Amino acid sequence: MPRLVVISNRVAVPKARGVPGAQGGLAGALNAALKANGGIWFGWSGEETDKFTGSINYVRSAEGVTTATIDLEHQDVEEYYNGYANSTLWPLFHYRIDLTRYEREFGKGYERVNERFAESALPLIEPEDSVWVHDYHLLPLGERLRSMSIENRMGFFLHTPWPPTNLFVSLPYHERLVRAMLHYDLLGFQNNTWLESFLHYCGKELGADVAPETGAVTLEGKTTIARAYPIGIDFDHFMSKGDTGEARQAQQRLMASTRRRTAMIGVDRLDYSKGLPERLDGISRFFDRHPERTRDLVFIQIAPPSREDIGSYQQIRATLEQKAGQINGARSDVDVVPVRYVNRGYAQEELFGFYRASKIGLVTPLRDGMNLVAKEYVAAQDPDDPGVLILSMFAGAAQQFDCDGEGALLINPHSADDIAHNIRIALDMPLEERKSRYEKLITSVREENVQRWTENFVGDLAGVER
Ligand code: F6P
Repeated sequence: MPRLVVISNRVAVPKARGVPGAQGGLAGALNAALKANGGIWFGWSGEETDKFTGSINYVRSAEGVTTATIDLEHQDVEEYYNGYANSTLWPLFHYRIDLTRYEREFGKGYERVNERFAESALPLIEPEDSVWVHDYHLLPLGERLRSMSIENRMGFFLHTPWPPTNLFVSLPYHERLVRAMLHYDLLGFQNNTWLESFLHYCGKELGADVAPETGAVTLEGKTTIARAYPIGIDFDHFMSKGDTGEARQAQQRLMASTRRRTAMIGVDRLDYSKGLPERLDGISRFFDRHPERTRDLVFIQIAPPSREDIGSYQQIRATLEQKAGQINGARSDVDVVPVRYVNRGYAQEELFGFYRASKIGLVTPLRDGMNLVAKEYVAAQDPDDPGVLILSMFAGAAQQFDCDGEGALLINPHSADDIAHNIRIALDMPLEERKSRYEKLITSVREENVQRWTENFVGDLAGVER
């Protein structure tokens, strides 16, 4: 396999922004890819400066992965990260045009930072390298690199959904953005739904020649291949976290504090796409319907704050505080608090222990590219006494766990009734059924792992004609 140059907004720099390495699924996945192929990982350090210098910081991690990062200036972070990436593209890609902000300055900042990424990454790219760019922050980066005479194979993977054409066209200059994307040789999406939306857009709005069987999109003589590559977790690595004192301690801690009650867990970045208020409404509905079960169930929601400078994120935080407070105010007793709402992150070992101690995993995003929490929850279960996964039908993971209704309990996250109904089913599910559902899910989580995802994408990229 050729050496990889991975480029993403965030990299797993130790202590980036005061957290132990970049958080989330992307970071874990890319670390695994670089360990397997060698190479370098380039991105933003997470630091802000007064003036952009372009100087590159190199760090070699204990795992042998070299990261190269640049600092961005305040205005860049405001217009590119808080602005175009997370106030324009993120809500739009999650079907939330009500929250999408279209500001000319955001667009300019986005283009400026993509140009800065290209100029800074340029000297790191050697002639035989494969370049692999990630996520909505860097859609036009390939085109910028091509304009600087980079002839390497270049692929791009989108970790979020791609919205339907009739939503996407609400983005000013949408054509320019997608034309820029067609400078990559290979475009990867999490599943067929997002892929089909992208192909539909290319055919309808750009008049490109689209071959759905092969994913070939041809425009003005240049062909790009677009395909679905569902991402997985680094299964062996995650399982090794479970085999630690920290994991066992975390499991004991949660079990001791919930005693005879069933623990139900949700772990999400505090983001409006995750369906958190709707989830609390569903739980509230469950307690309304079954007040006698208030002593049977305790819900633990871990929600580390995210993108805190953005108004819509501040708003969702306030909404959640209010809803969690309402449920607890109405349902608590001196020795019972039904919802534990925690605004902090935990190490993977601890999460493993919390997942294992929880007999229900609640993953109910309104829209999600994949959702790796669903996969980690399954991986952490005790095969002899597994918990039940309640999963949104709008998470990419639901499409991948295609178990004909015999794996996760699939729900509509907009429906409080549906959530409440399935919590009851999960609470009462007999062991045999839990085991058979778990078996179906764990096979997918184990086999369709991040190594396979990397091999498939990098292998296809190596094979594209240039
Ligand atoms: O694709 C979405 C994503 O990149 C996730 O992989 C990751 O968990 C999250 O966004 C990180 O968000 P941010 O870098 O804005 O904190």
